[in-house]
Amino acid sequence: MAAAGLPLGCARGQPAQPVASLPPLRQQARAAGRGFGAAIRSEILAADPAYGALFAAEAELLTPEWEAKWEALQPEEGRFDFAPLAPLLAFAQANQQRLRGHALLWHEAMPPWLPAALGEGQARARGIMETHLATVLAQTRATIRDWDVVNEPIANPPGSDNPQPGDNPLRETPWFRALGRDYIELSLRSARALDPTLRLTINEYGIEEATPDAEIKRARMLGLLRHLLERGCPLDALGIQAHLQMRRPFRADVFARFVGQVRDMGLAVLITELDVREPDALAPSIEARDAAVAARTAEFVGAAVSAGCRNVITWGLSDRDSWLVKEPAVARRDGATTRGLPFDDAFQRKPMWQALAGAMR
Ligand code: G3I
Repeated sequence: MAAAGLPLGCARGQPAQPVASLPPLRQQARAAGRGFGAAIRSEILAADPAYGALFAAEAELLTPEWEAKWEALQPEEGRFDFAPLAPLLAFAQANQQRLRGHALLWHEAMPPWLPAALGEGQARARGIMETHLATVLAQTRATIRDWDVVNEPIANPPGSDNPQPGDNPLRETPWFRALGRDYIELSLRSARALDPTLRLTINEYGIEEATPDAEIKRARMLGLLRHLLERGCPLDALGIQAHLQMRRPFRADVFARFVGQVRDMGLAVLITELDVREPDALAPSIEARDAAVAARTAEFVGAAVSAGCRNVITWGLSDRDSWLVKEPAVARRDGATTRGLPFDDAFQRKPMWQALAGAMR
């Protein structure tokens, strides 16, 4: 065990071990009774075995970045397609990894037929939901034991990105419009009835930082969780996505208090999609940018772990495939590659990797 405050394997007065020689994150996290993982896409496994090897070495938990979403699993009504997900199920089993399900109900990644069908009345919408959950949970029962049952149910308040007008605390998604606010309880009860030992998670973003709109979103989430639990609705965990933005302030005490409030309700809390968008103004050098990202990572994951989070999942491993690089809406406006994940384009461990190792230990 390292002396307090020194890198692993480094006794006082000894040179620190080279980062490349330190044990992988899944091993360091497990040694501390925690789980580390990352989102993965099956196209990555097919195209780049070296990248697959990195996932096998570093991640104990895996989240399909797309393959377990409605768009992939039921592209037409009644036609289920588990082919995109199959390689990830096999990969997880081969590498003693736990695969998380993401996501049963979400307002994005909907195949074109779904929103229209949900608008054809409550009974039809309920039947569509039940059929999807029954089919998908049965097919994945042996490998996926933890699902984001509802993804992003909270409405974005005024002043946030993509605000929802009015004061409805719930996002008015096609599911909300078809089944009312109880769609969340309906889906959780249905999942529990279909598989009593499944871990049921509600997953959300924009609830991490010390901003007025994040504070409103946290309050809305606490209200939803209390409402569900007071009604005896089955629910096991809150997933905090943690797509952090360094242009926004972060306060460890504010965030830790929120995690504590959720855990006081008897729920687990996990970090499900961690990545870091650097400050908009391009820092002078890659070293400075990496140091800034590592510092925010250490502060955030340190606060999360100290407040009781046991599992931390990043949204990918290498900057090369990050949605922060591929999605124009979130990519850097100056054309530079966002460096918000633990590994660089050449799969080298970055300061963010060290920050994760230190915080998870
Ligand atoms: O549509 C094609 C499909 O035809 C093809 O077979 C498949 C092969 O991999 O790729 C599909 O392409 C894209 C897919 O990512 C896989 O790369 C989809 O068009 C594209 O919309 C999809 O984007 C994903 C997005 O969610 C929407 O599902 C991103 O990769 C993924 O990073 C992003 O992740 C979300 C989380 O689920 C929720 N939290 C926010 C996070 C970032 O937006």
